[in-house]
Amino acid sequence: MKIALITGANKGIGFETAKQLAQLGYFVYVGSRDKTRGLEAISKLKDTGISNVELIEIDVTDINSIKQAKQELETKIEVLDVLVNNAAIGGGSDQGFSTGKMENLRNVFETNFFGAVQTTQQFIPLLQKSKGPVIVNVSSELGSLTVHSSTLNPNYAIYDTYSSSKTALNAFTVMLANELRDANFKINSVSPGYTATDLNQHRGTQTVEQGAKFIVKYATLGIDGPTGGFFREEEIPW
Ligand SMILES: NC(=O)c1ccc[n+]([C@@H]2O[C@H](COP(=O)([O-])OP(=O)(O)OC[C@H]3O[C@@H](n4cnc5c(N)ncnc54)[C@H](OP(=O)(O)O)[C@@H]3O)[C@@H](O)[C@H]2O)c1
Repeated sequence: MKIALITGANKGIGFETAKQLAQLGYFVYVGSRDKTRGLEAISKLKDTGISNVELIEIDVTDINSIKQAKQELETKIEVLDVLVNNAAIGGGSDQGFSTGKMENLRNVFETNFFGAVQTTQQFIPLLQKSKGPVIVNVSSELGSLTVHSSTLNPNYAIYDTYSSSKTALNAFTVMLANELRDANFKINSVSPGYTATDLNQHRGTQTVEQGAKFIVKYATLGIDGPTGGFFREEEIPW
């Protein structure tokens, strides 16, 4: 049975990704920074008949929490096959580079970029033991500089703080994929698309089932799959 870890999986797209991967037969560690919310998620999954899931407490902004999660996993598993860096925050309404508060910019990068980097660094040794290690960095079309370079694009110049954190995450994807190409890692950025969750006060036009489907596709890549790309239904321009 392949084993996956998803950060921020107690709700939204991460929760649905956990559900879909578990339904495909993966054992899924459901990451949650809050124990109570995590246990609620596990009990919701179990109510649907899914038993191959377990809570792992992990706050991606806290290196001690990540190390503790890693130590806990090391007592239970010898190999990790899939890491989904899903946890993220939106950054609220303070989004401009010309006017935004540095504190907000730092907080958003702390979760959406540094959080993914430091989580990945801690789990690489367990992933390296897999025959086909896979990392999905959950990104967004808003992280595409092509999108923000065309005044005609409907997403042009919106959510600058959040968007730039996803641009940085995309750079991480490309560079880490290059570093680990010879070790057979498949590392991609995947956008779920505009999905109704707490992140956008449920204004997204897709369901979580539709959004998670793209993440699951790249989380279950085989050894012939792409690495260092940016995808949703199709490849997304950087
Ligand atoms: N929804 C969309 O339209 C959309 C579009 C493109 C990309 N995305 C991306 O999809 C991913 C999932 O977003 P979503 O829409 O499902 O949002 P969501 O419903 O707000 O879920 C975000 C998850 O991240 C967790 N999280 C936040 N900070 C964390 C931290 N420091 N450590 C660990 N977990 C943390 C949250 O935990 P708590 O419950 O404890 O807050 C929650 O479980 C994100 O990467 C987002 O950027 C979403």
